[in-house]
Amino acid sequence: MPARKIIIDTDPGQDDAVAILLALASPKEIDVLGITAVAGNVPLSLTAKNARIVCELAGKPEVKVFSGCDTPMARALVTAEHVHGKTGLDGPDLPDPTMPLQDGHAVDFIIETLRQHPAGTVTLCPLGPLTNVATALKQAPDLAARVQEIVLMGGAYFEVGNITPAAEFNIYVDPEAAEIVFKSGIPITMMPLDVTHKALVTKPRNDAFRALGTKAGIAVAEMTDFFERFDKEKYGSNGAPLHDPCVTAYLIKPELFSGRHINVEIETTSELTLGMTVADWWRVTDRSPNATFIGEIDADGFFDLLTERLANL
Ligand code: RIB
Ligand code: CA
Repeated sequence: MPARKIIIDTDPGQDDAVAILLALASPKEIDVLGITAVAGNVPLSLTAKNARIVCELAGKPEVKVFSGCDTPMARALVTAEHVHGKTGLDGPDLPDPTMPLQDGHAVDFIIETLRQHPAGTVTLCPLGPLTNVATALKQAPDLAARVQEIVLMGGAYFEVGNITPAAEFNIYVDPEAAEIVFKSGIPITMMPLDVTHKALVTKPRNDAFRALGTKAGIAVAEMTDFFERFDKEKYGSNGAPLHDPCVTAYLIKPELFSGRHINVEIETTSELTLGMTVADWWRVTDRSPNATFIGEIDADGFFDLLTERLANL
């Protein structure tokens, strides 16, 4: 089975960082064609810097990193320093990157890459607000027929919101972009809070990262030590939820996950519920299914995979 060609679109973010490390540690299953940074957890200048910090932490300075959209399509940017710290990668003390950003805009890279590869052979993996992906789809309508699948972290239904009572952060930051993506007709697999809140970095799991004794293992332990304080305080949870690594783990071992193919619509007008992913889980409407909504995870299997692969770096 050839490695799956992907573009990771990301707003690092400690959990984005772990997702990127997992992908770069799994070359047999995943071929990262490039990484595109988007504004989200922290402003674009930092997400573009953090993406390169993570590539160098993985020992992969050859990975192409592009800078993308610095504001949502139709709204002001909302960031999440209260969760991720002012750098977006608070926790470990990691060196500034020496690898350069690629010339050219992330949106152009997404368009050109999808046009250069045979249709149906490139998967998009958004881990942040969907601004870059939606802008590419808007600029190049032919792209929708060329994307193999979009596997994204975003949304929530039974778990409700984390940035507002109704909305998950990635969708809330750019709901117009999310609407474009969810109406694109591209096959979508979504990792909402409903599943990511079941991927908690408990102390034994974090100890296993640290026990790797490698730069990457120790850095991941320090990232989640920092990242978990917000969720522990808010939810009383037993560790940090590893949201974004659910995306890359799904590409490697989809059998760790289960969900339902349903209709998901995005709220883009009500200020009260802006960014809500209205998931027709019980199929009470005749709206066509457009996404596989993942609700369950084999958490032990997920952490075994993650720890095993981090040891490769
Ligand atoms: O709501 C969680 C999502 O928002 C994650 O992708 C996290 O990195 C932030 O981007
Ligand atoms: Ca993210």
